[in-house]
Amino acid sequence: MQPLLSSESETTAEAIRAAPVQSPGTQLLAFVSDDATATALRAGLHDVMEDVQVQRGTILTAIRHLEKRATPPALVVDVSGVANPMDTLERLARVCAPSSKVLVVGENADIAFYRDLVRVMGIAEYLPKPIGRDAVMRVFAPMIAGVPQIEATTRGGLVVAVCGARGGAGASTVAVNLALQLANSMHGHVALLDLHLTTGTTALQLGIQPGSGLRIALESPERADSLFLDRCSVPVNDRLRLIAAQEPMDAPCAPTQEGMRRVLGELSQHFNYIVVDMPARPGVAERQVLRMARQLLLVMTPDVVSVRDAERLRRWATQSGCGAQATFVLNRAGVPGGLKPALVRRELNGGLMFVLPDVGKAILRANNLGMPALRASGAFRRSLLPLAQEVAGLGIGRNRPSWLARMFRA
Ligand SMILES: Nc1ncnc2c1ncn2[C@@H]1O[C@H](COP(=O)(O)OP(=O)(O)OP(=O)(O)O)[C@@H](O)[C@H]1O
Ligand SMILES: [Mg+2]
Repeated sequence: MQPLLSSESETTAEAIRAAPVQSPGTQLLAFVSDDATATALRAGLHDVMEDVQVQRGTILTAIRHLEKRATPPALVVDVSGVANPMDTLERLARVCAPSSKVLVVGENADIAFYRDLVRVMGIAEYLPKPIGRDAVMRVFAPMIAGVPQIEATTRGGLVVAVCGARGGAGASTVAVNLALQLANSMHGHVALLDLHLTTGTTALQLGIQPGSGLRIALESPERADSLFLDRCSVPVNDRLRLIAAQEPMDAPCAPTQEGMRRVLGELSQHFNYIVVDMPARPGVAERQVLRMARQLLLVMTPDVVSVRDAERLRRWATQSGCGAQATFVLNRAGVPGGLKPALVRRELNGGLMFVLPDVGKAILRANNLGMPALRASGAFRRSLLPLAQEVAGLGIGRNRPSWLARMFRA
């Protein structure tokens, strides 16, 4: 453990300010607003953790920090003086990896507040101030000691299933670029899962090689263990990982329902968002994704056949037990001869719809260079942002349960 203060007599405030920015091995990072709480944390966690860092700040400082850096296994945030702690915790949940254990300190000693934090928001523990060393040892230390057991966490990432109404509608393009937008603009930890095991295109669009082992994990659930991520996922950047495969064309791929459930369960322990590029005709195993999804994006092009099939797909998904919020994505809007977005919207009877422009040759050129569409076209990137905000729970379709409540399903 790195002692934050060399002696109790040293001024704590100075020591807090001098605390280094998070080192790679940090096991617990705390942002607290007063010296007494910092001292209590340091003393109370002394025997539990090797590397504890306490910094001066509040939950707002923590959010800014986690937008740019990796999430430590355990996090302590201070909600003292924060006008709306629940909303602010919701913002924290969007940038904090779900596997991290979040502990909260604050000034509110109300039992109802405690219950909301722990039961509704999925916070590991809460302590009201003033906080002494004993309370930290008694309440926080046992929770933190269990940090490696991330399977026990009740929080989980949000599964977003991206389906094309027909082949070639742009589902993979939307999945890849949405995943990048969620990672870059929403600062989430994102997994992009490509379920086209033989003919996937997401790796090509990102200019990387897929990892190996996804097919085995989907076929044999016992292989979808905690090591699965290391074997199968490839980093795209520090917030986004790709889980894809490039099996031989004649490989007899047979994903199972249980394999799919385990793979998604594992991913949801580590990522805020799991964006799934779905095959055009979901089989039994892929339907498991629809059951676990919180968002279903139906990608279509501006022609009568595509719009008809998007609507049919939505109905079929609902009948198959998909409880996700269905959102239409009209891709390639403005392509010569295509239907106008207003007309498509009317056909869909007011269903929530986002519009992405046709960007012509730019996308083809970019993909041939292993570059995603949003890097090649500013118009495409700008149009994608409202969709990413919708998925993150910040968008126009906000008359739903809070993002956090949906994400922290018990
Ligand atoms: N907004 C767009 N503007 C112009 N071209 C696009 C756009 N979106 C996708 N495309 C092009 O359309 C083609 C099909 O896109 P994509 O591979 O994303 O579709 P898909 O639905 O995943 O297809 P599949 O059914 O084969 O999986 C690609 O060549 C892609 O570059
Ligand atoms: Mg595709």
